[in-house]
Amino acid sequence: QESTENEGLLLGKRVLITAGPTREAIDPVRYLSNHSSGKMGFALAAAAAREGAEVTLVAGPCQLSTPAGVRRIDVISANEMHEAVANALAQQDLFIGCAAVADFRPASIAEQKMKKQDGENEMHIALVKNPDILAWVAQQEGAPYCVGFAAETENVEAYARKKLERKGIQMIIANDVSNSDLGFNSDNNAVVAISADSEQHIATNTKAEIAKQLIALISSKL
Ligand code: CTP
Ligand code: CA
Repeated sequence: QESTENEGLLLGKRVLITAGPTREAIDPVRYLSNHSSGKMGFALAAAAAREGAEVTLVAGPCQLSTPAGVRRIDVISANEMHEAVANALAQQDLFIGCAAVADFRPASIAEQKMKKQDGENEMHIALVKNPDILAWVAQQEGAPYCVGFAAETENVEAYARKKLERKGIQMIIANDVSNSDLGFNSDNNAVVAISADSEQHIATNTKAEIAKQLIALISSKL
């Protein structure tokens, strides 16, 4: 659409974005995952590229086409996403963690398809914690400006502020996913962008428009 003017707000900047879900294998045919569509992260990548940034998008499994001018690296699991982010981190000015990274993965991946056992009506899968990619990036020497997302169903702003502090990041974008028309898998979103010294509400809109506004806000902080 030609209505989107490019103001060059991120000219000369390098931006690294994670998007989509991760998939954590249980056995050769099964995995744990979530309903993230990747739409918000892809919209941010598109918006950042339109503002002149050199964008790298590390994407979990999702059915979306790569935005124009964006370098895309596809990954499956949280560990793969972490490795791809680590390999791309040098010289980045901005990191946006938009992926819905699975918090846990199966402690081991069965080599063969798991079978039901006669007489067993319960089954338990041991899980271990995945690395927190966003917190890890924020801890690196010379870390870029770090932006996270917080999908919450209650106490949205309070929980988001805690995440901002706990992860040592510069901005958190909170969204209320208790409303199923917004956030996960939806085309629309409504968010609050929280940093140490500011709080900006962005009203319900398409993810493309929210992304454009967020990129304008973030670029004013760089
Ligand atoms: N995140 C990440 N790596 C993880 C978990 C989360 O990089 N292993 C990032 C997400 O991309 C998001 C932010 O951290 O930008 C917050 O994710 P969220 O799931 O809301 O927070 P958690 O810290 O995982 O806390 P919880 O799920 O318990 O609310
Ligand atoms: Ca989580």
